[in-house]
Amino acid sequence: MTKQTWERFFDKAETVRAFVAELDGRVVGIAHFLFHCSTSRFSDVCYLQDLFTEEICRGRGVGRALIQRVLDAAQEAGSSRVYWTTQTSNVAGRALYDKMAEHHGFIVYSHEL
Ligand SMILES: CC(C)(COP(=O)(O)OP(=O)(O)OC[C@H]1O[C@@H](n2cnc3c(N)ncnc32)[C@H](O)[C@@H]1OP(=O)(O)O)[C@@H](O)C(=O)NCCC(=O)NCCS
Repeated sequence: MTKQTWERFFDKAETVRAFVAELDGRVVGIAHFLFHCSTSRFSDVCYLQDLFTEEICRGRGVGRALIQRVLDAAQEAGSSRVYWTTQTSNVAGRALYDKMAEHHGFIVYSHEL
């Protein structure tokens, strides 16, 4: 990542937001999210872009707490939906997500430019 890209994250106008999870004053987890308008809803939807728990802290509720915090923030902001993607092979992620959300069968395509 370039210095300019990093600087964007600290720009107040930047739309990507973050929550961090702390344990004993140390960051052990992060969630990045953003809001965008939807062509099928009256209110904005929230995209949870990244979720990460430090390896030694996994299985202790950090990921669940971060997702819940994003859900709360989205609700407070008047958003009607939070969504995120993961790889079908992400066993740990899906074990958590299946408890907190529904999988509606969509798959993701992307094209690098
Ligand atoms: C996915 C990830 C964020 C989960 O974070 P975490 O802090 O370990 O998750 P939690 O401790 O909150 O897990 C909550 C639930 O998921 C289940 N779970 C978590 N990891 C699991 C695993 N490896 N196997 C089975 N179940 C698991 C737990 O049983 C737990 O359920 P419970 O609360 O009912 O007991 C973490 O594994 C991670 O950072 N992975 C690498 C990065 C990644 O894949 N990010 C997501 C990309 S979409």
